[in-house]
Amino acid sequence: MVEVSIEKAGPERRAAFENLFQLYIHDFSEFWTDHSDGELADDGRFTNDICLDTYWTEADRTPILIRAGGHLAGFALINGFAHSGLPTDFSVAEFFVARKHRRCGVGQAAALFIIGARTGQWDIAVSRRNLGAQLFWRRVASSAASGEVEALDRDDDLWNGLILRFKVD
Ligand SMILES: CC(C)(COP(=O)(O)OP(=O)(O)OC[C@H]1O[C@@H](n2cnc3c(N)ncnc32)[C@H](O)[C@@H]1OP(=O)(O)O)[C@@H](O)C(=O)NCCC(=O)NCCS
Repeated sequence: MVEVSIEKAGPERRAAFENLFQLYIHDFSEFWTDHSDGELADDGRFTNDICLDTYWTEADRTPILIRAGGHLAGFALINGFAHSGLPTDFSVAEFFVARKHRRCGVGQAAALFIIGARTGQWDIAVSRRNLGAQLFWRRVASSAASGEVEALDRDDDLWNGLILRFKVD
C-alpha cells in the first residue's frame, strides 16, 4: 500500500482546502438532485459555505491534509460539534480522499491516524444517501473504538442519517 501521512495545516494552506472543496462538493452534489445545493456558479465553481476560516481561529477545530505517496490526496476537518446532540469531544466535520486514491486504504489509514491521536468520545455523522461513506466509517469506527460502537439512525433538525459514536482510550 502507498505510504499515507497526515499533516495539521496552517492558514497558509487555506487555498489547498478551497481547491479540494470543489472536488468534495462535486462528489456530494450527486446526493442533492432534489434541492438547491450543489449548483455551479457561472464561473464554473461551487459556492463553499463551510466556515473554513474558523479552522484556524477556534481552538477545538483542526484542519488536516492527507498525503498518499507524498502527493496531496485529501483532507479532514475535525471539530467538536455533535450531530447527535450528546456529549462529544471530537467529530469528523468533513473528510475527503481524491478519486485516484480511493479503495486503496488511504482514507482508512488517515482516519485511524487522526482518531487514534485523540482520546475521548467521537461522534461521526454520515448522511443517509452516502452509502459508501457509511460502510467506510463503520469499518473505521470498529477498528478505532476502544469498546462498542453505537450506531444511531437519526432524522431530526440536527441530522438525517447515520451517527456512529464510540470512545477512544
Ligand atoms: C468515503 C471515502 C473517504 C473513503 O475513502 P477511501 O480512501 O476510498 O477508503 P478506503 O480505501 O480506506 O476504504 C476502507 C474500507 O471502507 C469501505 N469503503 C470505502 N469506500 C467505500 C464505498 N464507496 N463503498 C463501499 N465500501 C466502501 C470498504 O470496506 C473499504 O475496504 P475495501 O476497499 O477493502 O473493501 C471516499 O470515498 C471519499 O472521499 N468520498 C467522497 C467524500 C465523502 O463521502 N466523505 C465522507 C463524508 S462523511
